[in-house]
Amino acid sequence: MLFKAIIRPAMFRTSANDPEIAHHFLMDQMARISHHQTILKIIEATSAYKSPVLERDVFGVHFPNPVGLAGGFDKNGIALPALAALGFGFIEAGTVTRYAQPGNPRPRIFRLTADQAMINRMGFPNDGADAIQARLARLPQPGIPIGWSIGKSKVTPQEEAIEDYLYSLRKLDAYSDFFTVNVSSPNTPGLRKLQDKEPLDQLLHAIVQETKQLAQQTGRRSAKSVLVKIAPDLTEEQISDVVEVCLQRDVRGIIATNTTLSRTGLQQQSAETGGLSGRPLHARSLEVIRYLSKQLDGRIPIIGVGGIFGPDDARCTLDAGASLIQLYSGFIYEGPGIIKKINQHLSHA
Ligand SMILES: Cc1cc2nc3c(=O)[nH]c(=O)nc-3n(C[C@H](O)[C@H](O)[C@H](O)COP(=O)(O)O)c2cc1C
Repeated sequence: MLFKAIIRPAMFRTSANDPEIAHHFLMDQMARISHHQTILKIIEATSAYKSPVLERDVFGVHFPNPVGLAGGFDKNGIALPALAALGFGFIEAGTVTRYAQPGNPRPRIFRLTADQAMINRMGFPNDGADAIQARLARLPQPGIPIGWSIGKSKVTPQEEAIEDYLYSLRKLDAYSDFFTVNVSSPNTPGLRKLQDKEPLDQLLHAIVQETKQLAQQTGRRSAKSVLVKIAPDLTEEQISDVVEVCLQRDVRGIIATNTTLSRTGLQQQSAETGGLSGRPLHARSLEVIRYLSKQLDGRIPIIGVGGIFGPDDARCTLDAGASLIQLYSGFIYEGPGIIKKINQHLSHA
């Protein structure tokens, strides 16, 4: 109520020309709060919904509830404790790259409010794996599973992509409950080509091998789970190829989906380039999850993401075959209350 009546209009108005202003303002506040245990406890007591019914074990990780924050929201991992206190069951942090990079020129996020959607062409702005590792060492533990999303630095040539991913993986190993290999952002030239069968096979082989080596070196019993995040713009044949490679390379889950290049079904036309997220993505994301679910036949789990704006969307995504869900645009448009709403609904369903 308060969010939609006062907070959202104020935030949207003050950042009408550049939604990133609102994002950075919020993130700065949450980063500050992340160092104050008492404030975190108050937020958690008023926001988070807990029930044993919501807990689940997926790809070897224990989740307090199935509602996660999607990749790209906390790119540098500056506010993980505060975001956790809002009631998320897990957070996908990043996408982080080996080298610090500024991303594309601003503005690079555009709200399409009539469609409850966004277009973004961020291009992975982040502080780079070294700086992020150093910061995480000083940040309190968020208390929920954190998966780091890793991507390729813009300056790294395609032939050196594998080493670029491995570098970030090593740096963030101690702070990650699982890893997501991001090969589906439309905003880094050539990145989506890594979803093709052969390059994907080589990349995933190297990454999974590295997690096994890291487990050995650190005396861990099992390697950290590696997941792959895919685009909604793949054909069925391409999805089947991804599934085949994932199963062969011991990938433990697939995240579907990233943003789309499609603009179909929009009421508010926009000439901006980039990936579309939010409500218009939901139907396509469900299609991909259903297809994946059929192909995977329960062998590895799916995390469903794309246009989830409330309990019904969450239910549909889980019914389509997802074991966990993630929010991004729904969190922006509906506010933090959406997490509790979905969890309450799921625990009574
Ligand atoms: C501004 C913005 C930045 C994003 N950055 C990333 C990113 O860095 N890594 C990633 O895997 N996905 C990123 N995404 C995609 C989201 O994680 C999610 O897959 C997509 O937005 C669909 O979910 P939604 O409809 O709930 O927003 C970003 C999305 C938005 C809107």
